[in-house]
Amino acid sequence: MAKSDWFVHDRLGMFIHWGIYSLPARHEWIKNREQISDEDYQKYFDHFDPDLYDPSIWAQAARRAGMKYFVVTSKHHDGFCLWDSALTDYKATNTPAKRDLIAPLVQAFRGEGLKAGFYHSVIDWHHPEFPVDGLHPMRENLAFREAAKNRDIRKYAEYLHGQTRELLTRFGKIDVMWFDFSYSQRDWGWSKGKGRDDWQAEKLLAMVRELQPDILVNDRVEIGADFRTPEQYQPVGRVMVDGKPVLWEACQTLNGSWGYHRDNLDWKSSEMLIKMLIDTVSKDGNLLLNVGPNARGEFEPKAIERLNDIGAWMRLHGRSIYGCGPSEFTPPPDCRYTQNGRRLYLHLFDWPFGHVHLPGLAQRVAYAQLLSDASEILMRTIDPSRPAQNTTMGGIGADVLTLDLPVQKPDVTVPVIELFLKD
Ligand code: GLC
Repeated sequence: MAKSDWFVHDRLGMFIHWGIYSLPARHEWIKNREQISDEDYQKYFDHFDPDLYDPSIWAQAARRAGMKYFVVTSKHHDGFCLWDSALTDYKATNTPAKRDLIAPLVQAFRGEGLKAGFYHSVIDWHHPEFPVDGLHPMRENLAFREAAKNRDIRKYAEYLHGQTRELLTRFGKIDVMWFDFSYSQRDWGWSKGKGRDDWQAEKLLAMVRELQPDILVNDRVEIGADFRTPEQYQPVGRVMVDGKPVLWEACQTLNGSWGYHRDNLDWKSSEMLIKMLIDTVSKDGNLLLNVGPNARGEFEPKAIERLNDIGAWMRLHGRSIYGCGPSEFTPPPDCRYTQNGRRLYLHLFDWPFGHVHLPGLAQRVAYAQLLSDASEILMRTIDPSRPAQNTTMGGIGADVLTLDLPVQKPDVTVPVIELFLKD
């Protein structure tokens, strides 16, 4: 058994971006984008009071959506910590929330059967030893830059390592460590970009693996990746590194922001999200779908609606997602295949005109059914010795399997046909 077996099997996770950026409610990068000083950002810390926070509600929503693991922001780039870290005062316990917000969350999600992961920012726009680089909110404040010029990244790295140790020793078994992010190529003239040396990434990863031997680590400290993380982007096929397929997980938002963004109306439809999940699995990947809870501690209605829709689809079609991967067969246009052993799943993104034609499958399928209700789907192939039949069926090749479909699209977001392949 490989330590990544569960990850490959489970396919769908929940990403949670929550922090004091939920108060301004205009993207988690607001401190950078609006170049806000620590003093001016303090009002969000002082007013963070998530009175409606009940992680069991979040956990149930995730489970009902068919999600099998979660990754929550322990700390984002603004440096604010959701757990009761002994290494900083800049944490939830010192806000009006007055409590550790991570411990009950981990417990609630585990209680619903989900595996646990932490997103942890290696960037920190609050820490006094973090250099003022080109992404820092104070990058254009020359006096601030001057005063910060002797900041010692090694001291910051100690803090980063210490906090990572806390995260991996205080909350039981952690399944995923999701660091974000290194940028060693960038150079702003007065300050070089951060990279693996700045974080002492080798040492950091060695500690992570020592503390949690079965953990999976993402690729954003530039070394030692167990899986890749395409962001807001669907790869064209399997993700390959040095000619070999690797584990990957696409992360996608529901609207255009990770953190709660009241006025961002770029909502993806439930249908688009379900298609993204299918597309991902057909290319051997996972999907980590994000919610940005608001500052009262709730998922907004549009997010809940989408999670419910995904859950309704997953209830009937989980079989074409869990434990499935890509297929050796090439699907017809506007379709995706996933496969689990001898079961091949045809996902129809567009409902065809009465028939769908499957190249290469003519002699390969023993039985076919609509997955949502297990109703038989009739199949036919051309008999090459009867040219007339070939004419009525529009000149289809002898290797093609044709499925007879109802005229009406079944009443599910994306219909799936389950094909039982012959031995
Ligand atoms: C990014 C962003 C960020 C978000 C994330 C999720 O690199 O900095 O705000 O947390 O990745 O993939």
